Amino acid sequence: MIMSRVAGLLGLLSGAFAYKALSDDGLRNIADPGDDFDIKSGALLAPILQPRVPGTPGSTAVLNHFVDFFQKELPDWELTFQNSSSRTPISGNDETPFVNLIATRDPPWAGQGHVGRLALVAHYDSKIDPPGFIGAIDSAAPCAMLMYAARSLDAALTRKWSAMEAEGVSELEEASGIQIILLDGEEAFKVWTHDDSIYGARSLAEEWDQTMHPAASTYRTPLDAIDLFVLLDLLGSANPTVPSFFRTTHWAYLNMANTEARLRSLKQLHTSPAHPFLRETNKKESDRWLGGAIEDDHLPFQARGVDILHMIPAPFPTVWHTMADDGEHLDIPTVKDWAKIVTAFSAEWMELDEYLLPPKKRSLLPEPDRTEL
Ligand SMILES: *[C@@H]1O[C@H](CO)[C@@H](O)[C@H](O)[C@H]1NC(C)=O
Ligand SMILES: [Zn+2]
Repeated sequence: MIMSRVAGLLGLLSGAFAYKALSDDGLRNIADPGDDFDIKSGALLAPILQPRVPGTPGSTAVLNHFVDFFQKELPDWELTFQNSSSRTPISGNDETPFVNLIATRDPPWAGQGHVGRLALVAHYDSKIDPPGFIGAIDSAAPCAMLMYAARSLDAALTRKWSAMEAEGVSELEEASGIQIILLDGEEAFKVWTHDDSIYGARSLAEEWDQTMHPAASTYRTPLDAIDLFVLLDLLGSANPTVPSFFRTTHWAYLNMANTEARLRSLKQLHTSPAHPFLRETNKKESDRWLGGAIEDDHLPFQARGVDILHMIPAPFPTVWHTMADDGEHLDIPTVKDWAKIVTAFSAEWMELDEYLLPPKKRSLLPEPDRTEL
């Protein structure tokens, strides 16, 4: 943690971080989502577009969708549930259950406590009110984007880590993993307060802060092992503007913005270049930083010293917390572009450039000796 914060600070001061940007080919090799995000039939998104209030059958159905996806398509990702329960302002004496799902992929040789991770985070619960609320931008679409990112990077992670193992690595060597965190209970049941909101995030941050890794680990706890907490929320409406919220992670914002700009210049995005999503690339120390103004799932992590990159538009999209936040009101080109930007950023973070293969070749992978027609 100390190292990553020092690196972050240096990055902010010098405008450069010690990792290499993806090559143009690497960026082109980020697969296009195709119809994954179709709101009726899209394999990733459609099953999430239903009410999923904590403790209801819709919530279980969506959780099962995530679990099935990882078990069938990404069996190398380790799935963990982190469960809790809490009274809410509407539950009376009953406790409402909250289930967070964490999918983790670490280098196969890495010893417990020696892996720092990029955490990609969104909440999957939906608001109880108005009845029937879908929450497409809030946060069905962000969850689907994270599934897409995990699937797009999976084979490259395998190739990279196999190559490293072939060269010989020790279990103490510094290693980087990646983690998708799907949080429950973000929404308030009545009115947003510190007690009525982010139920899942509060429980997870507390548990991970108290779970000690073995002695002499590089990272004390699973919470310490989060190198960067990238929180996606309210993404999927057209023409978003996402500010850089935190001085301390502006270096990461700049990398994300640079990825967006380069994908655009390579004509890899679907939305108009006239409206980039990440525009605060010339922000100065003395400018106004909104970090802290928006309360969200990052709060209990931030309070414990985790570095946060908050990908949420300001102002909020107009459909926010209304019945209009449904599948039909999503702007699918925007959804696809976010998915590609976040995936490319993550590929860069994980240093996967030369391990990303062109989409065509990738589909031939299971049968390597078949020739292309
Ligand atoms: C947590 O909840 C999930 C989903 O309901 C369940 O499958 C799992 O067994 C629970 N885990 C624990 C440790 O209770
Ligand atoms: Zn919300």
